[in-house]
Amino acid sequence: MFIAANWKAYVDTTERAKRLFSVSKRLALRYATQHEILLAPPAPFLGLLAHGNRSGVLFSAQDISTATGGAHTGEVTAGAARSAGASYAIVGHSERRAAGDTNDIVAQKMQHAIGQGLIPILCVGEHERNENAQYLTFVREEILSALTPLPHKDRAKVMLAYEPIWAIGKTASEAITSSDLTEMILYLRKVLSDVLSGSASKRARILYGGSVEPDNARMLAEGTGIDGFLIGHAATQPESFQALVKALV
Ligand code: PGA
Repeated sequence: MFIAANWKAYVDTTERAKRLFSVSKRLALRYATQHEILLAPPAPFLGLLAHGNRSGVLFSAQDISTATGGAHTGEVTAGAARSAGASYAIVGHSERRAAGDTNDIVAQKMQHAIGQGLIPILCVGEHERNENAQYLTFVREEILSALTPLPHKDRAKVMLAYEPIWAIGKTASEAITSSDLTEMILYLRKVLSDVLSGSASKRARILYGGSVEPDNARMLAEGTGIDGFLIGHAATQPESFQALVKALV
């Protein structure tokens, strides 16, 4: 499984960041044949932990700027993230979309990420599940608007994270059910097959995110067709992160 830990702003001291990194290094070593572990720390800790990293742990930026350099105070460019040691970038997380990222902005960020050799983790997901399945069209538009501007060879590099907004930041009991997730993964592969070649759409990695905890991780992993998880709050405490990774072995 591909296990991505999005620390968001939960981790805000160097001590906690270092402690979570050392736990993650141990987990990456111990479960090297079963899992890939990726950390997405806040930008200052990305530089601190990822620079010169020789462990099996992978690193991602939580977001990147639409700017590619120059007079943009406070922005973190794809190039800066890459140089700090990231090999991935989360793009279009719902919390960034809520702060103003439109589908057009997400599409620009995708291009900057790929331009700098970062693998984008494109986050998509509906606000709510309406009865006439409009949410499917909404998610489809999020995917197509981000992928269509990319050249074919680059589209195949993208990782998709399906994160229904109604399921983020809650508890295991409020996350998606495995039957709904199975259906959604089939739908996402179908959407991907419209913009990727047949084999690339089957190979593309799809993660699920939204209240994944030690209690529901296994159930959501088994038989649903997902390739991994994007985990928020449960990945920001060493005990729950360890329990979650072990639950998936
Ligand atoms: P959560 O966050 O696990 O805290 O629900 C997931 C995410 O937003 O990536």
